[in-house]
Amino acid sequence: MDNEELWNSLPVPGLILGPENRIEHANSAAESFFNTSVKAMMGKQVLDFLAINANMDGAFDRVRRARGPMFVNAVDVGTGSTAPVECNIQIAPLMERQDRLLMLMEPRKLADRVGKAHGVKSAARSAIGMAEMLAHEIKNPLAGITGAAQLLSMNLSAEDQELTDLIVAESRRIVALLEQVEQFGNLRPPERQEVNVHDLLDRAQKSAEVGFAAKMKIREDYDPSLPPTFVDPDQLMQVFLNLLKNASQAAGEGGGTIRIRTFYDHGLRLRRSDGSGASLPLQVEIIDDGPGISPEIAEQIFEPFVSGRENGTGLGLALVSKIINDHDGWIGVDSVPGKTVFRISLPIAPKNTNKE
Ligand SMILES: Nc1ncnc2c1ncn2[C@@H]1O[C@H](COP(=O)(O)OP(=O)(O)O)[C@@H](O)[C@H]1O
Ligand SMILES: [Mg+2]
Repeated sequence: MDNEELWNSLPVPGLILGPENRIEHANSAAESFFNTSVKAMMGKQVLDFLAINANMDGAFDRVRRARGPMFVNAVDVGTGSTAPVECNIQIAPLMERQDRLLMLMEPRKLADRVGKAHGVKSAARSAIGMAEMLAHEIKNPLAGITGAAQLLSMNLSAEDQELTDLIVAESRRIVALLEQVEQFGNLRPPERQEVNVHDLLDRAQKSAEVGFAAKMKIREDYDPSLPPTFVDPDQLMQVFLNLLKNASQAAGEGGGTIRIRTFYDHGLRLRRSDGSGASLPLQVEIIDDGPGISPEIAEQIFEPFVSGRENGTGLGLALVSKIINDHDGWIGVDSVPGKTVFRISLPIAPKNTNKE
């Protein structure tokens, strides 16, 4: 992979500033963020090009003097032609050429969303917002670290590049974990609608097959007469993807077979805490022929942070069970070596939900 490619794959808008803080380079993310070309930005003094409501001159000076990175959080960044967007800014000197600065600007979309969704100013008021914010705040400096490592690697010998590659790879792993934490935090009350469960399963299957389940054979065993269910399609999609992913990961290198089975079962009712019984007649099973769930963790697999895999987060099934609970559904598992069945039971759509 060449350095230009790395720089341009960075999902965070980034600039390289030369003497007098003139723009010497901009990555693709910066081009789309500022809606202009590298050419148009080149040579401009950054503070002529960008309007930022903070003392950026002071920040640049400090980074140059201290030769260390600096963060300027929650400032508005705009250009003459783009509206200001609230960003967290990171500035760091380039390792090899300390008169050059790396400037990364990450939009604070997520933080905004937390505030709006919970109707609170301070995310600290909600534990979920907390986890989400924390994940976000860690991802931010990580993007800076990754970006700096990538730039650093440009001038290194192959041997030393192994080390910067390690920094980048490990940072990616942390980002993946944080994204799962965020996924958890992002969970909103389900927006239910009438959904054909087979449509969802087909979509989940397709996306699995082109990705993590490429080595698996997936068989459909559908009951075509199944009535529609009443769920949040995006959330149910996450459920199916997580289950398919676990089944694929359990299979190992050699691959295996996953069977997706749907059927109707009148008998299943769930007793709610208020005494009423909910009928959950729609059954979806994800069945794999892998090694089965290790007995040591079998009782706790739905708990967060319980994982039997190296590099696992243990958040997948916790998310699955939270979503199913939020839907007043039920999930169960039955596993022996060679056959693991996750079964989800869902309600059917009420007769008069009809589209407003
Ligand atoms: N289909 C399966 N076959 C065997 N083990 C499984 C299966 N699904 C889940 N597990 C076990 O349950 C653990 C928890 O799964 P999960 O909550 O998704 O977390 P993670 O995948 O990050 O480890 C897995 O690490 C694995 O040990
Ligand atoms: Mg998982």
